[in-house]
Amino acid sequence: VGNYMLFLTLIQIFKGLFPGLQHKVYVSNFLRSDWPEDCGNPAVKPKTPTQRVVNGEEAVPHSWPWQVSMQATLLPPIPYLHNCGGSLIHEEWILTAAHCFIPLNKQSLYRMCLGKHHMDSSMDVPSVEKCLQVDEIIRHEGFVYEQDPSDITYDIALVHLSEPVNMTREISPVCLPKPGAVMPAGTPCFVTGWGDEKGRHILVLTASNASLNQAALPVIDFQTCSKPSYWWDTLRPSMICAGYESPDELKSACQGDSGGPFACSVAGTWEVHGVVSFGPQGCIKDKKPSVFTRVSAFSHWIEDSIRKFCLNGFLHRCY
Ligand SMILES: *[C@@H]1O[C@H](CO)[C@@H](O)[C@H](O)[C@H]1NC(C)=O
Ligand SMILES: *[C@@H]1O[C@H](CO)[C@@H](O)[C@H](O)[C@H]1NC(C)=O
Repeated sequence: VGNYMLFLTLIQIFKGLFPGLQHKVYVSNFLRSDWPEDCGNPAVKPKTPTQRVVNGEEAVPHSWPWQVSMQATLLPPIPYLHNCGGSLIHEEWILTAAHCFIPLNKQSLYRMCLGKHHMDSSMDVPSVEKCLQVDEIIRHEGFVYEQDPSDITYDIALVHLSEPVNMTREISPVCLPKPGAVMPAGTPCFVTGWGDEKGRHILVLTASNASLNQAALPVIDFQTCSKPSYWWDTLRPSMICAGYESPDELKSACQGDSGGPFACSVAGTWEVHGVVSFGPQGCIKDKKPSVFTRVSAFSHWIEDSIRKFCLNGFLHRCY
């Protein structure tokens, strides 16, 4: 294993409890991959400070209305635990990381919560949280990390909600980037999540007062980030690097949760350019910025996966 770690979660500590969970393929009759027209336009505007906020900061409640808390239970009477972040990209689809489903890869163990600010939604007054069941998890077929831990490419997945979510002031989708789009180096984009600045997730469970945090991280170009002193060949063109380059500036690199959004404002509209994937061990390290799956490298995969799901089957409907 290289000198990186995936942003692991508490659920993954229970790895091994459920070996060999079957991944069922559920498909549907209908074709639906028309993207929402009103996306990337939060009713509550996020705070986008021009000055650098090194440690990340609490987000304006509900200003990132596509932010999902993916929650899993090991066994249904056991309460759900926050496992990963995700992004709402359509009324029935969530974009996240493939590694979030190690080792629990069974849709019936998950729920997707939207409209949250505090992890404990009773602290949000009024609570506008909506938690929805899942009827399919589609991990990229090229994600082979479990077989080969030196390979973390294709860390992307789609989750299909068992019913469409109603859009509200607090719940609305982010736009997808144009296929192949690459943000210029230095562009500050925002990573959001309930993970703390050291990348620990366990705290989220005990500190239910945890609130959604944001951090602006400048994009680092592939040329720089694939240097031997940086991520070298661990970095693939289908990934984005972002963060600060020296350790004293690096503190915000661990903000966010696996699978969560790395959102960039493009002509005033928010697009999800990255999915939180991995970072250095210990989270803060010289020349080891955070790494995201580059969503624009998977535009065709996203369209194809949705088309296949909606066309091929009989058990589920695409609305
Ligand atoms: C969306 O709104 C409709 C009509 O009010 C309601 O029947 C449905 O249950 C709502 N869906 C969700 C996921 O809340
Ligand atoms: C959450 O609660 C813990 C312990 O009760 C406290 O130490 C911490 O400061 C609180 N955090 C926030 C963000 O209020």
